[in-house]
Amino acid sequence: MKIAILGFGTVGSGVYDIITNQTSPLLANIKVAKILIRKGKEKKLPIMVDDITDIVNDPEIALVVESMGGLHPAYEYIKLALTHGKHVVTANKAVLARNIAEFEALAKENGVFLSFEASTAGGIPWIASVEKARRIDAVSRFYGILNGTTNYILDSMDEREEDFADALAKAQELGYAEADPSADIDGVDVKNKVVISCAIAFNSVVDIDSFPCFGIRNIDKRDIAYFKRENRIVKLIGEASRFGDKYEAFVMPNAFTRDAMEATVRRNLNIVTLCGSTIGELKFYGQGAGKFPTANAVIQDILDIFSEKTEYTIDVKRKIDYDDTQSKNNYVLRTDRALTNPLFRAVIPFEGLYYHHADGLTIREMRGLAEQAGEADKRFFIIKQADF
Ligand code: HSE
Repeated sequence: MKIAILGFGTVGSGVYDIITNQTSPLLANIKVAKILIRKGKEKKLPIMVDDITDIVNDPEIALVVESMGGLHPAYEYIKLALTHGKHVVTANKAVLARNIAEFEALAKENGVFLSFEASTAGGIPWIASVEKARRIDAVSRFYGILNGTTNYILDSMDEREEDFADALAKAQELGYAEADPSADIDGVDVKNKVVISCAIAFNSVVDIDSFPCFGIRNIDKRDIAYFKRENRIVKLIGEASRFGDKYEAFVMPNAFTRDAMEATVRRNLNIVTLCGSTIGELKFYGQGAGKFPTANAVIQDILDIFSEKTEYTIDVKRKIDYDDTQSKNNYVLRTDRALTNPLFRAVIPFEGLYYHHADGLTIREMRGLAEQAGEADKRFFIIKQADF
């Protein structure tokens, strides 16, 4: 079976390396026939091309791996591949989260598959496991640490008291971070992964612009120290819950008690949990980023497609509505000055900063408080007291 790889960065080169240095007999049937690189870049291998039409018009290529990242031209190239009757396997969360319904519909129309295990939680077989759980159960909720870069940063700040900027630079060196690490530290990468997971878990395409997203850009060493004092540790969490034909989702830092499983997830590792009606709570843990774990997930999809194990599992026409009044949580808002609001149970000064505790708020109420905090201090930080 011949495949093409679009992009030869961390993930694309990982896929190529695993397939060409194969140790499993199953991989012997897969041949990387072409690799698309950017125009003007040196063609280091004879199979490298710089024109997408060389790939989509090649009748021998049955499957295209999209590992370019970013929205454009990935969006156009995925559509071209699908409309030319090629299966597509992508690791690109950003393009998928915004266009999953269109891509899925196009795949069905053209009798091919779109698979994206590598897009969410890297090497962890998360998408496949949610699909499997859903064969029997209604999945009512999922949550987890879905970004390796921010977990690496938070772990380094907690364990070695490193500065945010130093820890981020190291995560970039290790190949965990996005080309523009804003997507990691502002929570957007997790948001993309929540949308993709909702599609599988809830069998519905949700609107990425409807739910809130708070990252860790403004975290300060003193925040880490404040929560350590409370025997808690900060983790960036993406989560979604389903309530009938409504859902709630958000991305935000959570303060976990040190005995929670999430609290023990170190370095760039990910953990993600699903809650099913008969299976109960299932946790999946492993490498959520990096060259070989992500490439491994891409190749699992390729093998499933070629062995005809893949099915269509998303009803792209099914919509569920966002409702941010369903659950209630406890939050802490940190600013550089004391704020007043009847929703605050306590305002605690700590090393020149103010920690405002507010309990039992809906997401809507929490968003209101975050707006107030943002007006007073642009570098405010908001966190949820984890109750998982
Ligand atoms: N930048 C992402 C992360 C890569 O750090 O998790 C894997 O999706």
